[in-house]
Amino acid sequence: MNMLLIKNIGMLATAKGNSPLCGAAQHSGVEIRRNCAVLINEETIQAVYDNDAAPACDNVIDAGGRLVTAGLIDAHTHLIFGGWRQHEVPLKLRGAGYLEILQAGGGILNTLKATRSASEDELYGRAEKALSEMLDHGITTVEAKSGYGLNVETELKQLRVIRRLNEEGGFNVVPTFMAAHAVPPEFKGDPDGYIEFICTEILPKVADDELCEFVDVFCETGVFDVEQSRKMLTYGQAYGFRTKIHADEIDAIGGSVLAGEMGATSAEHLIAVDEAGIASMARGGTIACLLPGTSLYLNKEFAPARRFIEAGVPVAVCTDFNPGSCPSDDLQLCMNLAYLKYRMTPEEVLSAVTINAACAVNRGDSLGTVEPGKQADLVIWDADDLDYLVYRMGTNKAEKVIRKGITVK
Ligand code: NIG
Ligand code: FE
Repeated sequence: MNMLLIKNIGMLATAKGNSPLCGAAQHSGVEIRRNCAVLINEETIQAVYDNDAAPACDNVIDAGGRLVTAGLIDAHTHLIFGGWRQHEVPLKLRGAGYLEILQAGGGILNTLKATRSASEDELYGRAEKALSEMLDHGITTVEAKSGYGLNVETELKQLRVIRRLNEEGGFNVVPTFMAAHAVPPEFKGDPDGYIEFICTEILPKVADDELCEFVDVFCETGVFDVEQSRKMLTYGQAYGFRTKIHADEIDAIGGSVLAGEMGATSAEHLIAVDEAGIASMARGGTIACLLPGTSLYLNKEFAPARRFIEAGVPVAVCTDFNPGSCPSDDLQLCMNLAYLKYRMTPEEVLSAVTINAACAVNRGDSLGTVEPGKQADLVIWDADDLDYLVYRMGTNKAEKVIRKGITVK
C-alpha cells in the first residue's frame, strides 16, 4: 500500500459531505481545523488526525504550519479553442458591445474559424498548456465546453481532445457539449434550423461516442431564445446528459427561469438575473456558477452573489476561461474578485470553488472536501489562513499540489 502523510497542517479548511452548500451553510459549513494531519492511501483520503495523534508513515510531507484545502475545481471553461483574440480589445475599448462584435462576425465566430482549421494535436497542445498552468495554481479538476466548431466535425474534434487530455494527459476534465454557443455562418439567420441540426445530427454522434456528460446552451438576446434553449436541453436530457445554461449574461430573457424549471445542474453568468430567475433556481436546486473574471473583462456589473446566497441558491465561482470574454485561467484571481466584488466571505468563496463547484460538475461524491473516502486532491498553500488566500492578489499562492495522491507540484 502506498501511504502518504501530510503533517503539520496549521489550518485545514474544508466543507463536509457530498451536497452543495447554500444559504448560511455556504459559510458555516466550512470547518476550520488547526494543527492536524491528513493520511492518504493511494488515490484516496484515509483519515484526518490531530497532528500529535498522526501515525508514523514512511512517506511524509511537512506542511510547515500552512493552510491546506481540497484541490480547486473550475466548473466553467471554454478550454478547447484555436486562437486568441487580442485584436478585439481595442474595438471593445472604443465602445463596441459583446453582442455587436459577435453580430459583425467577430467574437465566437472568429474563434470558430481558428478552431475549425486547427488540428486535433494543436488543440490538445494548447489545452494541455492551460491545464498545466491551472494545476500549478492548485486547480485539480476543470469543466470544459465544446462550442467553437458548430459543425459535426469540429464539435466532435473538440470533445475528442478533452477525452485525450484525460486518457493520455492524466488530467481531470469534465466534458460539456455546447454546440448551441452561437449560430454558425451555415445557418445565419436560422437559429431554429441550427438547433434542429444540433439535436438530430450532432448530438446523436456525441452520444454514440459517449463524448460528454453535460449539454449547455447560450440563452441570450440575439443568440438562442428560451424555446430554442428548452428544445436543446430537452434533447440532451433524453440522451441522459445533465444540463447547464449560459443565462442572463447580458439580458434576463428567461434563461435562469428555464434552468430552475428543467432542474438544470447549473446556470452560469447571471449578471442580469431577476427575482423570478433566482426563485426558479432555488426551487429547481440549480447551482449559480458566477464568473467574476468575465465581469471584469467585459466591464460589466458583478453578478448579485449575495442575493443568491440569501435565496438559498448554492454559489460556485469559476473562470469562464475563453479567448474573448475572459482570457484568464486564474481561479485564484476569481476568488479575490468574489471576496471583493461579490462580498462573499472567505469561507463562502472556498465552498464556491470546492464542494459547490464539485457538485456543478456532478462530482460531489468524490471531490470537493478533505474527508475520508474522497479523492486525494489537496493544495498546501503559501498562506497561514483562509483570509490570506482571498486577500493576496496577483501571485500564485499554491505551494504544493497533490492530485489523486500524487504530488504534481
Ligand atoms: O461564456 N457567453 C458566451 N460564451 C463565452 C464567451 C466565449 C467567447 O467570447 O469566445 C462566455 O463568456
Ligand atoms: Fe462561458
